[in-house]
Amino acid sequence: MKYIFGNWKMAQGQTKAREFVGRWNFENPEVTASVFPSFVHLSECSREKKSGLQIGAQDCSSEMEGAFTGEVSARVLAEIGVRHCLVGHSERRARFHEDNSVLSAKLHQLKLVGITPVFCCGETLEMRQKGHVFQVLESQLEALKGLGIDYILAYEPVWAIGTGVTAELPQIEEVHRFLSQKLPGVPLLYGGSVKLENAESILGISQVHGLLIGGASLQREVFEEICTIAGRLKS
Ligand code: PGA
Repeated sequence: MKYIFGNWKMAQGQTKAREFVGRWNFENPEVTASVFPSFVHLSECSREKKSGLQIGAQDCSSEMEGAFTGEVSARVLAEIGVRHCLVGHSERRARFHEDNSVLSAKLHQLKLVGITPVFCCGETLEMRQKGHVFQVLESQLEALKGLGIDYILAYEPVWAIGTGVTAELPQIEEVHRFLSQKLPGVPLLYGGSVKLENAESILGISQVHGLLIGGASLQREVFEEICTIAGRLKS
């Protein structure tokens, strides 16, 4: 199985989101294709999407119920058909100060409602330059300890996200080899400036089971083309 996931962040408005999912035209049992719209569009996207596409959320609350103004619980997401949920995207870690205790609480909520977490990890440029990549990943992976459910892991080096600088193939391979030894059986995605032009070579790395794509997931034709490439490759 290959996983091609599109993180729309705040980029896709209502009309574009509706058109994207309503005109979706790719289906392959060997490829799990999923897009992650804004919270406000999840319900409509889930209702209007064509088959062959799944819907994921970009985040969820670390609480299931109570007085938490502005938060969205995992239960509410499950009710509207959300299948996957990002946890610990680097933008949430850096800009919203999410640490391991918050992230483990979110993972726990997703477990209770049966949504598959897509746990994101990755080092900053500074940590890479200091040679601390594996220590950073080890400490981020602590949040998954004792989770006891299936999840997907996305390795996204922070310096490659939204910068146009994709990690080099040997760098991706090295980290994915490390992750596959630590987490046998867990699907491992790569994310960070994935484009139509580099998708095939990254997916060609044997420990890469899929892609988490930001900018290049916004145009349906491009995203479908990447899904088609994934479908051609052997798992
Ligand atoms: P990018 O974003 O593909 O635009 O670099 C990836 C992500 O943030 O998940």
